Amino acid sequence: MPNLAVNVDHVATIRQARLAAEPDPVLAASLAELSGATAIIVHLREDRRHIQDRDVELLRRTVKTRLHLEMAATAEMQGIALRLAPDLVCLVPENRRELTTEGGLDVAGREAVLAAFLAPLAKAGIEASLFIDPDPAQIAAAAKTGAGYVELHTGTYAEAKNPDARQAEFERLLAGLDQARRLGLRVNMGHGLDYVNILAFAGVSGVNEYSIGHAIVARAVVTGLPEAVSRMANIVAGFVS
Ligand code: PXP
Repeated sequence: MPNLAVNVDHVATIRQARLAAEPDPVLAASLAELSGATAIIVHLREDRRHIQDRDVELLRRTVKTRLHLEMAATAEMQGIALRLAPDLVCLVPENRRELTTEGGLDVAGREAVLAAFLAPLAKAGIEASLFIDPDPAQIAAAAKTGAGYVELHTGTYAEAKNPDARQAEFERLLAGLDQARRLGLRVNMGHGLDYVNILAFAGVSGVNEYSIGHAIVARAVVTGLPEAVSRMANIVAGFVS
């Protein structure tokens, strides 16, 4: 059975919109675990637009399943990872102007640099994954870095504008899954997956984990509204008019 890793970044996005204390991604992570998540993912971005250092520190102490840290391959992030020891680090490309991670990491040609970056993490017992497009050259390169995992970028599949384009990208993901597994890599999938487009993967074996954030947080906000509004309506209904 594949794992479901829940990304709680966008709980922090709502909190940071007001620079407030809630909603707390740490509490959200606990509820996600109680509801079946097999890992919690956070992306600590250089610009700290959603997840804060405090969140990762608390999550390291409270997450009972596995804590996966998405991060750019920078010295600052390497230091944080070595100090907090998440169960897995996933290297992603980062661009300050992007709304979310836009594409896979460019690994081809940078195998030695990335291997050197990952070596101290491996020594500290931290597993590593590389977020890459399902591109044969990137997958072959990833296998030379010492990372035990790749996360295949499903964003192009999720955002395909028509059924043919979606099917073509789905097949590229399946070929990438096969290639990566033959090279001894464990394969995660993520980005843009939702309650509908994930159904295509129902019969696909060999995926270690699906990494899902936005669709889950978006649904939680909407499905939680009736309870949240009726509670406030009950309070206001008890006031003098
Ligand atoms: N995987 C990676 C590497 C990501 O950067 C993200 C977004 O933070 C996700 C998965 C989750 O994507 P989504 O929020 O679209 O489910």
